[in-house]
Amino acid sequence: MKRYEFSQEAKAGVYQVIRERRDIRAQFLDTPIEDDVLERLLTAAHQAPSVGFMQPWNFILVRDQGVKVKVHQGFKQATEEAANMFAGERREQYKTFKLEGILESPLNICITCDRTRSGKVVIGRTANPSMDLYSVVCAVQNLWLAARAEGIGVGWVSIIHDDDIRSALNIPEHIIPIAYLCVGYVSHFPERPELETAGWLPRRKLEELIFFDQWGRKD
Ligand SMILES: Cc1cc2nc3c(=O)[nH]c(=O)nc-3n(C[C@H](O)[C@H](O)[C@H](O)COP(=O)(O)O)c2cc1C
Repeated sequence: MKRYEFSQEAKAGVYQVIRERRDIRAQFLDTPIEDDVLERLLTAAHQAPSVGFMQPWNFILVRDQGVKVKVHQGFKQATEEAANMFAGERREQYKTFKLEGILESPLNICITCDRTRSGKVVIGRTANPSMDLYSVVCAVQNLWLAARAEGIGVGWVSIIHDDDIRSALNIPEHIIPIAYLCVGYVSHFPERPELETAGWLPRRKLEELIFFDQWGRKD
């Protein structure tokens, strides 16, 4: 029987990029991202699966420092609100984290979802209307992995209200900002998630997360 698997080397590359992808919000270099590299990243994102093949994404490439400053102001406000949601020591630890690299990264990319693209009824989005949003997240992950393979760091900034992103980037009301990404070459990639290293949360054991046939069934 013909098997369609990749070569050992190609498979190893796939697993390596998954394992070594990190969320990056510091250690950005000034080195600009070459046009052909950027095109590869965006093509990888655009090759993502999407419900009913609706391809609901757009990519807003942000290089203008003035626009970045506006987005950063939105982050500052939201992170203050966020800090107040934690209590005691957790709040103090939260405040020590660097949770974005908006101003230091040479490129920011906002990936959006147009829920109206291709009409009201979309194959696969009929029972669950969130599927278009999930499709855009697939595109984000493709870009994130491709970037890691290129040696480019990506950090997802979610601590900001949609309306602040909308007003900074002039995004119409019916378009949903899904991911605001800080993108650039970096001096290094940490080996482990920073929140793990900081002792915020450990990586869970995979076997604890797997059930058989029924929720909660372990055998
Ligand atoms: C949907 C989503 C939103 C995130 N938002 C933020 C954020 O606002 N700031 C931040 O520093 N990291 C953010 N992260 C990164 C996570 O903290 C990170 O993925 C996690 O700690 C695991 O680390 P790793 O990505 O380096 O493996 C986000 C990740 C995802 C998937």
